[in-house]
Amino acid sequence: MEWIYDIIEPVYLLAAILFILALRAMSNPATARGGIVWAGFGMLLAIGVTILIPVTLPSSSTLFLNFVLMGIAIAIGGSIAYYAAIKVQMTNMPQMVAIYNGMGGGAAGAIAAVDLMLSNWPANQYAPLDIVGGLIGSVSFAGSLIAFLKLQGWMTQKPVTFPGQNVVNLVVLGLAALFGAFFIIQPAFLAGFPVSLLAMFFVLGLLYGLFMTLPIGGADMPVVISLYNALTGMAVGIDGFALNNFAMIVAGVIVGAAGSLLTYLMAKAMNRSLSNVLFSAFGAKEETGVELKGSLKPTDPDDVAVQLAYSSKVIIAPGYGMAVAQAQGKVKEMCDILEQKGVTVKFAIHPVAGRMPGHMNVLLAEAGVSYDKLFDIDEINPEFATTDVAMVIGANDTVNPAAHRQGSPLFGMPVLEVEQAKSVVVLKRGQGKGFAGIENDLFYRDNCKMLYGDATDSLSKVVQALKKL
Ligand code: TAP
Repeated sequence: MEWIYDIIEPVYLLAAILFILALRAMSNPATARGGIVWAGFGMLLAIGVTILIPVTLPSSSTLFLNFVLMGIAIAIGGSIAYYAAIKVQMTNMPQMVAIYNGMGGGAAGAIAAVDLMLSNWPANQYAPLDIVGGLIGSVSFAGSLIAFLKLQGWMTQKPVTFPGQNVVNLVVLGLAALFGAFFIIQPAFLAGFPVSLLAMFFVLGLLYGLFMTLPIGGADMPVVISLYNALTGMAVGIDGFALNNFAMIVAGVIVGAAGSLLTYLMAKAMNRSLSNVLFSAFGAKEETGVELKGSLKPTDPDDVAVQLAYSSKVIIAPGYGMAVAQAQGKVKEMCDILEQKGVTVKFAIHPVAGRMPGHMNVLLAEAGVSYDKLFDIDEINPEFATTDVAMVIGANDTVNPAAHRQGSPLFGMPVLEVEQAKSVVVLKRGQGKGFAGIENDLFYRDNCKMLYGDATDSLSKVVQALKKL
């Protein structure tokens, strides 16, 4: 098996190249699927060659046992992941990302712990790296689990707060750092300590992850998950340095960098700073004193069809409800009919519409809507003023003018300014609020009509009516 040493580095390099190409491919919806396959193949290569690396063990039966244990772990983990990936609904993707990300953080923490237990500082000169990687990994593990529970609705989505919370969090983090530093500065101190200092260090890391995530509201979860994604990447990369494993360094750095960028872009899309997301318990307070002027004005599919057919420009603003109703196919059908009638149809894509980054792009691409019809918020907002009909399909927070109102929990988030259009039609089932749980006075405006019902049903009726015109 000595030949393995000759191929480790080249295989790791190949895996790294595949990761980078995959990431590049994922930046475009047309090539994203291929990117995922390449990344998976790169990961398979990296894991395969790592498992084959010869190790010195007391006996061949221990080696055999190790292979059996690894095989069982891979079989259990692989089957659960396969089953979950097949079963998961698109709308539940964020919690799936959260839990997988948490597993990555947990694995990074566990690797650091094992490395520290096998040989302590100063014998293991990389122990300080293990301490940092272990701390970041355990924070990411516990934090991602809380994010999963919140998004899955297995615990309250509201921020969980208590007085002096930020101070408590800081003390827990400080203690964890102190324990970690002790481990490096005074290894002898560890010997006589009643509870393993190492275990306490990891418990404090986990507690910090828990405390850090509890005060964050559901609407901010995507940003937080992306932050934990970046942290998991960093932990893996740092562990890679400690273990001198090139593949872990590359994979960790890529995930860390991609996660950091995504965190930045998402916080920017919500017009929030990261510290505001992490420390301000956004959404803890309900919006009060909002006066809803006007009334809700229901309309019917026939009226909507006439209105659309005699427009010259229509902009569609899709949101989470379109994903729930799986209405993208009907949207495309309606869009085709309108275009045949000479109507210009564009799509307004809000960066956090739906429940995951790129959610609307993925669904519309699936339905065959071409990318050149999709416009981001900065491109499309100036166009609403010259639009005949803005059709809101299952979107709420992303079109809520409350974002312009100081004191609103949404204040400052850029929103699609659909109310600027000559008329607005909103497709939703009833009076359900959006993800942020606040009222939307768009629905009460004079130029806005409500087409109630499941988005697929409503659109089917509109399509039928359009065909008859
Ligand atoms: P939301 O504000 O969540 O509103 C969705 C609306 O769709 C609801 O008001 C609901 O009203 C309606 N709806 C639900 N099922 C429907 C169906 N079958 N047919 C028709 N309508 C239906 O949607 P949004 O505007 O896309 O905003 C997204 C929100 O999620 C933001 O607050 C964002 O921060 C948050 N978030 C985003 C992400 C990412 S990364 N995209 C991840 C997690 C959270 P009815 O109940 O009356 O039908």
